[in-house]
Amino acid sequence: MTEDRKERQRDHYRAPDPAEGPLTTDQGVAVDHTDDSLTVGERGPTLMEDFHFREKVTHFDHERIPERVVHARGAGAYGYFEPYESCAEFTRAAFLQDPSVRTPVFVRFSTVQGPRGSADTVRDVRGFATKFYTSEGNYDLVGNNMPVFFIQDGIKFPDFVHALKPEPQNDIPTGASAHDTLWDFVSLQPETMHMMMWLMSDRAIPRSFRMMQGFGVHTFRFVDAQGRGTFVKFHWKPKLGVHSLVWDEAQEAAGRDPDFNRRDLWEAIEAGQYPEYELGVQLIPEEDEFNFDFDLLDATKIVPEEQVPVRPIGHMVLNRNPDNFFAETEQVAFHTGNVVPGIDFTNDPLLQARNFSYLDTQLIRLGGPNFSQLPVNQPVTPARTNHRDGYHQTMLHKGTNYSPNSLGGGCPALAGADGYAFSHYAERVEGHKIRKRSESFKDFYSQAALFWNSMSDWEKRHIVDAFRFELGKVAAVHVRERTVEQLARVNYDLASQVAQGIGVAMPEPGANNHKPQASPALSLENLQGDGS
Ligand code: HEM
Repeated sequence: MTEDRKERQRDHYRAPDPAEGPLTTDQGVAVDHTDDSLTVGERGPTLMEDFHFREKVTHFDHERIPERVVHARGAGAYGYFEPYESCAEFTRAAFLQDPSVRTPVFVRFSTVQGPRGSADTVRDVRGFATKFYTSEGNYDLVGNNMPVFFIQDGIKFPDFVHALKPEPQNDIPTGASAHDTLWDFVSLQPETMHMMMWLMSDRAIPRSFRMMQGFGVHTFRFVDAQGRGTFVKFHWKPKLGVHSLVWDEAQEAAGRDPDFNRRDLWEAIEAGQYPEYELGVQLIPEEDEFNFDFDLLDATKIVPEEQVPVRPIGHMVLNRNPDNFFAETEQVAFHTGNVVPGIDFTNDPLLQARNFSYLDTQLIRLGGPNFSQLPVNQPVTPARTNHRDGYHQTMLHKGTNYSPNSLGGGCPALAGADGYAFSHYAERVEGHKIRKRSESFKDFYSQAALFWNSMSDWEKRHIVDAFRFELGKVAAVHVRERTVEQLARVNYDLASQVAQGIGVAMPEPGANNHKPQASPALSLENLQGDGS
């Protein structure tokens, strides 16, 4: 049972009990008066030597750190994960082997677009990031509540986020998707269409973080003890079912209680109604990589569950609120690159970009290279590195710190070949260096249409209303028109209903109507090629 290892570690870091002694300075000197500055006489100037005043105000002056560049607003909780049975057949990840082993977790739910102080119930994607403190180091599953993403290649992420965030001249709107730059980008970049269907659906206004699915989005790779790989898609399913607000409720909640979702999570945990989620996987043997009419490396596509059912492998319970929002929820650092033996990447270009971006942003957000020493980020296994120094170093390292090293005393030995160490999956890749999107990524509409067709009448009505509301706020008429043209490629009926609601003429019936594109023949030769 390792569930309590994280708790024992946190105990180590708890600040001194205020009931057990007087107020002190940072240097531990007792203070008997904190309400008045040290002055010359009762009405004279404040003295430079008032170290208590200077320390108190200086510390306050430095209390803020940059908010996350995306997903700035969030709520977190601790809990545990338990597998239902051993997954040794597919992965050697230690935390997926033994149903009697509980792995501690920290989860952070978030909105994407708005700043830290924005409202919870806006139309937006929700982040669902889980840090597993496993016996082989930290594993982060950094997912969202929607199974696909807006773009296919991470090099477009800065463009997308610049378009999504408030407009540069006036910082409007905070926490909503109704504005020109977003729709300009979306209508020019049709790979966004599938995700935009999800974003305009009720999935974008969840009733509660406890009633929300989570998805790893990318195709990842499980690796077993023999080094065999299996493609895997991760799914979290809430035990309470998936529930959304309706638009008017979301609007009202944003006004009456901007903390609607955060409060719900906090209060449920305080009341002992612990949120629970089942972890499921879609497993795809490597030999089936090219058996789909889309590319498994394309993060704008789902793998339909009719083709590959979701297999439940474990469950997670969130049973403890953090002690301190800033120290834990704000300072937690998730990173898709945090993997453990048995879980590996694929060449999804969105994932590859993320593997660079998270550590990079955290170096500035958390003030230097030692943020993994913060209690919420520390693994429960010892981190024995040769990394030294840097801002906020808290460890007392002894001895030398280089390798190879014949003097001893410092550098830890390398792990043996006992399967404990991480070894990268030995995928064979070759090709010319090129900047070119794979042809297999170019069907932007089929799955958007699949999503629309799978909706009930009332769900379709909500989607049309959402498009009308959001696009109705767009001032540039050509952006509205171009978005309707894109929608016509998804579904003509959808596009005409939206067009009517926002005063835009429809394209000729059939002119832009989507016909499923013939997928390029998917094969290793065609796809891993050099683009020639
Ligand atoms: C933050 C999910 C794509 C860069 C986050 C968070 C989540 C998330 C859940 C919040 C983590 C937290 O709670 O602290 C996703 C998903 C993506 C995606 C599911 C696509 C499948 C990208 C891409 C990039 C990126 C393509 C960059 C190339 C960032 C950055 C942060 C972030 C810089 C802030 C991290 C921090 O300050 O700690 N993302 N993201 N994301 N994401 Fe992503």
